[in-house]
Amino acid sequence: MQLRKIKEQIYWLGAIDWDRRLFDSLIPLPDGTTYNAYLIKGSEKTVLLDTVDPPMTDELMAQLEGVDKIDFIVSHHAEQDHSGSIPRVLERFPKAKVVVTPKAKGMLIDLLKINENTFVTVEDGETMSLGDKTLKFIHTPWVHWPETMVTYLEEDRILFSCDFYGSHIASTDLFVIDQGRVYEAAKRYFAEIMMPFRNVITKNIEKLKEYDIRIIAPSHGQIYDQPAWIMDAYRDWVMGAPHNSVVLPFVSMHGNTRKLVDYLASGLVKHGIRVELFNLALTDIGKLAMALVDAATIVVGAPTVLAGPHPLAAYATLLANALRPKAQFLSIIGSYGWGGKTVETLAGMIPNLKVEVLAPVLCKGAPSEADFEALDKLAGAIAEKHKSNNFK
Ligand code: FEO
Repeated sequence: MQLRKIKEQIYWLGAIDWDRRLFDSLIPLPDGTTYNAYLIKGSEKTVLLDTVDPPMTDELMAQLEGVDKIDFIVSHHAEQDHSGSIPRVLERFPKAKVVVTPKAKGMLIDLLKINENTFVTVEDGETMSLGDKTLKFIHTPWVHWPETMVTYLEEDRILFSCDFYGSHIASTDLFVIDQGRVYEAAKRYFAEIMMPFRNVITKNIEKLKEYDIRIIAPSHGQIYDQPAWIMDAYRDWVMGAPHNSVVLPFVSMHGNTRKLVDYLASGLVKHGIRVELFNLALTDIGKLAMALVDAATIVVGAPTVLAGPHPLAAYATLLANALRPKAQFLSIIGSYGWGGKTVETLAGMIPNLKVEVLAPVLCKGAPSEADFEALDKLAGAIAEKHKSNNFK
């Protein structure tokens, strides 16, 4: 893909990774991704904003062939999908300086062994003149690591946001065209890497309020030339109240836990609650993460195996604990054969979740009438909690 013009003096460079299906050996990327870099040719200085993932470096270097100088490389984020090609760019443009937050400098030295004399560190709010264009660096920690920052191009009112507001979609669209598709991908992206840092991201969103942002140019996915909707979506995901919904990740070995799950789901629906089921033996874990963005309650369906929770249920519980969703209630249901410590083990895996644990329902073998009655009570208790909290 060739270098593409966004506006006069401002270009997209980068790579479209159509084939990538997993990030960090953990996060599913069903639609691939892009690594976006940007070039700004000021009247005096030329700046490259971020680079690309190392396997795509040749593509970036080919795009830079006709560029006669780079004075600065702004590295918003030390993670290698954006910083990994900096050493190659420095080989080609040895006089370029790498502009980073103080924290990113140490991380890039550790990760890429870049010479420390190459760096220029910038404080929060510091500006840099390129002649007829001005960059303002805004520190925005935890979108996605502690060292992250964004850049606001004052004259053009463009926010170069790196991971912030990004989405994993491989596409030749330079700008967002299919808003529904990008909403889903951006929500998945938020759920998987941003959700744990909601409190800090709230501060970053507040900080950006004072800027007139006409375009958001992220480092993954397409550019937002109408950014209001994605900024509104982030406000809802980060600060909005939980929805009147229950997420039900489960696994079933011989069908008994499944009977509990289906019965509970049906009971919750009767109470007017939205339910999303995720069979952990089949599901895309990213879909589960997305559902966790809004849900008020999580119910884990876990059969007992080898005296503890089924490992897939334990994995989903650990993941929920790591993602720190805004859910306020949690319960556990499942079938066991003769005994075990499923509830105790799962309950011990969620220290990060600020949830009230509602009475679990465990049945011996196939569920009995008494077990179904207990599920009726659990559905009623969840409905009461949602109602009293006015979850919509
Ligand atoms: Fe796209 Fe946190 O790197």
